[in-house]
Amino acid sequence: MRRFSLSVTYAFCLLLTLTVSASAQTNFQTLLVGVDHRTTTSLNGDWHYLVDQAPGRALYGDNGVVNDKSYAQNEHPNIVGAHNQEYDFSTAPTLHVPGDWNTQVPQLFNYEGVVWYERDFDAQPKAGTRNFLHIGAANYRSHAWVNGKRVCDHEGGYTPFDCEVTAALHPGSNFVVIAVDATRMVDGIPSVGIDWLNYGGLTRDVSLVTVPTAFIDDYDVHLAHGSAWQAGNTELTGYVHVLDAPAGTAVTLTIPEAGVKTSAITDSQGRAPFSVKATKLTLWSPESPKLYKVTISCGADSITDDVGFRDIRVDGTRILLNGKPIFLRGANVHAEAPVRGGRTNTDADVATVFSYLKDLNANFVRLAHYPHDERMEREADRDGVMIWSEIPLWQHISFDKQEVYAKATAMLNEMIRRDRNKASVIMWSVSNETPNNPTRTEFLTNLANEARKLDPTRPITSALNTAHIEGTTATLPDKFADALDIIGINQYVGWYTGTPEQADTLHWTLPEKPVIASEFGAEAKFGNHGATNQRWTEEQQAYVLEHQIKMFRKIPQLRGTTPWILVDFRSPTRNIPKLQDGYNRKGLISEDGKKKQGFFTMQKAYKDPTFGKPD
Ligand code: GCU
Repeated sequence: MRRFSLSVTYAFCLLLTLTVSASAQTNFQTLLVGVDHRTTTSLNGDWHYLVDQAPGRALYGDNGVVNDKSYAQNEHPNIVGAHNQEYDFSTAPTLHVPGDWNTQVPQLFNYEGVVWYERDFDAQPKAGTRNFLHIGAANYRSHAWVNGKRVCDHEGGYTPFDCEVTAALHPGSNFVVIAVDATRMVDGIPSVGIDWLNYGGLTRDVSLVTVPTAFIDDYDVHLAHGSAWQAGNTELTGYVHVLDAPAGTAVTLTIPEAGVKTSAITDSQGRAPFSVKATKLTLWSPESPKLYKVTISCGADSITDDVGFRDIRVDGTRILLNGKPIFLRGANVHAEAPVRGGRTNTDADVATVFSYLKDLNANFVRLAHYPHDERMEREADRDGVMIWSEIPLWQHISFDKQEVYAKATAMLNEMIRRDRNKASVIMWSVSNETPNNPTRTEFLTNLANEARKLDPTRPITSALNTAHIEGTTATLPDKFADALDIIGINQYVGWYTGTPEQADTLHWTLPEKPVIASEFGAEAKFGNHGATNQRWTEEQQAYVLEHQIKMFRKIPQLRGTTPWILVDFRSPTRNIPKLQDGYNRKGLISEDGKKKQGFFTMQKAYKDPTFGKPD
């Protein structure tokens, strides 16, 4: 199979071409870093909506070309005179943004198709400024128009995108229309088979971002990451990227608390690399999650972000944080709000999740299987919780397709660009449980290398379910593991395979790399009790976990554990009435916040200093 070697920018442009080939005007599309630290005009709130039932005739014209002439024009039906349109946003019901439509409108609970959103907003565009529509996430494909003009198209349900609307805006009342299509696609990422509810809609914050004509769209500020850990290292390095500034434009970076004030000059690409020594620096860690106010300025533009500085690396089978070996006591989490339900997208949702992690005595969380709301990373930065961040290459993906590789690379770029400056994010994952074959291995190996190019300061990982377990031996005959810095292993001994006790005698032969038990566990309905060999009971789930913990104590390379999963979550494939009722019940906590026995089993292990050897 032909090697994949697509540069990020080319892949990004290829993705745009693939999705916007029909669009008349090409609008500049970038991805603004640190938007949540900029002054913006929130467009959150109630938006009118119209359902465009499959095949989405209002959105897709013949041969699937996006139609700019229908709902995007936001017209109103003539009451007298000629027949014109048969839709009207102004009298349509509303959906709250941010939010999925599934938990807001009962009829849309299982709807996976096109929904059109519309809202009016006021704007007073000023000379010397540009305006961008910032969308935190929209699942899955989306097309946006302002005042009837298409401003952007995007594919991918879990990463942000920005669309320039400067040319489309006018003083006074404006309107924005966004069509969101949650239809699953074979060549999508994820593809058609997923084990979570495919929440649709404008699931994260939407805002209008006003910046000067030349502005900072990307920056990277991190502790210099040499080939070996260097105690006492206080060198900060990175770059500032300024859009549409002539080469030689000055940028400044100040971190008053660290005694840093430096300037740099942009090159012909708008990039201004810098390197500066901090006079004093407290490194970020779970024990002291120190964040610094970092101000970056260029001309009329300025942004102040909260950034922590730390060093994360792999050394043999150890994971070193600031030179010290660590063990990651964690859990998996889906972006589903405990108790409230629906997609996680508020401070309260995030606070609930982190309160559970705290009770569990966790210092780590795997955000499955896609980038979550940026509030999760911000909270983790503040709380000192380390993060595994992943793009949704979940199980079967069209690994033989170039355009799918372009989508994967664009999503990787969006994930890393948004969270590159988050100290809490300590590793990037490029996939979960993908089939062990050469086409997949080549695709993912290339993607892992792309991630290293984008960010050489963090280890790359993936969750593999390719372990071969037979009797008392377990091995990992998977060549893709060679491409990883940290290996995640998903196995469900005691639930999908074998008996809980089998784990006690299982001997693992694994590569000399740090290993994370990235998924393990069993299902239990909260309040369902019985003997430890009775499935679906809290007792059996706790029993499975006890035997897993016993097994983990014997794996020398083990540097972290994340049971599947912190909280029960919705999954349409889980259809045992009275036990599952559309929920995956492997949570340690029920969807309405009740802790199962299994929670306390993991909590006990995480409070036990003998559990989890950092080296
Ligand atoms: C897999 C998969 C999860 C899934 C889990 C399960 O390992 O990665 O997304 O929910 O198993 O079967 O419960």
